[in-house]
Amino acid sequence: MSSVSARLPVFPWDRLEPYKATAAAHAGGIVDLSVGTPVDPVPELVRRALADAANSPGYPTVWGTPALRDAIAGWCGRRLGARGVEHANVLPVVGSKEFVAWLPTQLGLGEGDRVAYPRLAYPTYEVGARAAGAEPVTYEEVTELDPAGLRLLWLNSPSNPTGRVLSAETLRAAVAWAREHGVLLVSDECYLELGWDTEPVSVLHPDVCGGSYEGIVAVHSLSKRSNLAGYRAAFAVGDASVLGDLLLVRKHGGMMAPAPVQAAAAAALDDDAHVAEQRERYAARRAALRGALEAYGFRIEHSEASLYLWATRDEPCWDTVGELSKRGILVAPGDFYGPAGERFVRVAFTATDERVAAAVQRLEH
Ligand SMILES: Cc1ncc(COP(=O)(O)O)c(C=O)c1O
Repeated sequence: MSSVSARLPVFPWDRLEPYKATAAAHAGGIVDLSVGTPVDPVPELVRRALADAANSPGYPTVWGTPALRDAIAGWCGRRLGARGVEHANVLPVVGSKEFVAWLPTQLGLGEGDRVAYPRLAYPTYEVGARAAGAEPVTYEEVTELDPAGLRLLWLNSPSNPTGRVLSAETLRAAVAWAREHGVLLVSDECYLELGWDTEPVSVLHPDVCGGSYEGIVAVHSLSKRSNLAGYRAAFAVGDASVLGDLLLVRKHGGMMAPAPVQAAAAAALDDDAHVAEQRERYAARRAALRGALEAYGFRIEHSEASLYLWATRDEPCWDTVGELSKRGILVAPGDFYGPAGERFVRVAFTATDERVAAAVQRLEH
């Protein structure tokens, strides 16, 4: 029996463990800025919606409740400027990581097929390609890719790990290129509501897709915007024939979000106030960390959106990780995201105000 796990890359976070132990030994405790996991409370209205749906004895549906699909469509119109999103254009998923990891398999990709993703990227795009037995390829510019055998093209804007945002013009060129070559374009936009120095644009915006969702899908998550990483709530929106096919596959696979989570996700998507509040918290933490890192001698590149600062001291990333760990601060080495990141670290600002203040103080002394 061939093992799927043998095709997958080494799980990188284990390599960080010794540095985590060093940081944890700091007298003031660890400031963990490595994993971008939300730390602030789940909004009260979302918790209430979850609790109100606690009595859910029956099976939920993979496609989600009509109320959830309405909430997704409404949010796409309101926040993305997408026009004419109907229920057929919507597919709830059990957190976007699950979707990213299994999309190539669920599309039926395999040997001889290629899956492309950015040169510096969230590692799960590669995992998904490898799990399906397809060939992973990276790109700097979409339009330079060789389209031969290419079946799936991932975009990620705002980017993890760099925080880079692709302009409407760049997105438009990518959509045109993918359509010309018959490649399915899937845009991971889970940080879209977390723009700081610029306003990120979705591929679903009519200026980008021309008002048609043919050949394109956007993936969104409630993990970051609504502090719901623990709930596993995300969704895909776009080409109805692609999503309809995936719905059938996922029905057979039982890949449904729990009913209380569906209710909570609908409530979260209908509300923008808690997102504005959360953005304020992140903006303050980002400004504090950015200033302290720059004063310490770091250069910050990109980082105009997302929950990360992409920082370098022009030295190997593991040297930076080692030095910061001695100050009790844990960050992610850039080479987790591809060899091009080997002289950068990714600093998440998903820590409490108290922990961020501790990091700033340690960088100042
Ligand atoms: C680019 C990107 N996509 C997807 C995810 C997965 O998010 P979730 O599974 O919580 O929706 C993450 C999480 O950090 C991410 O950075």
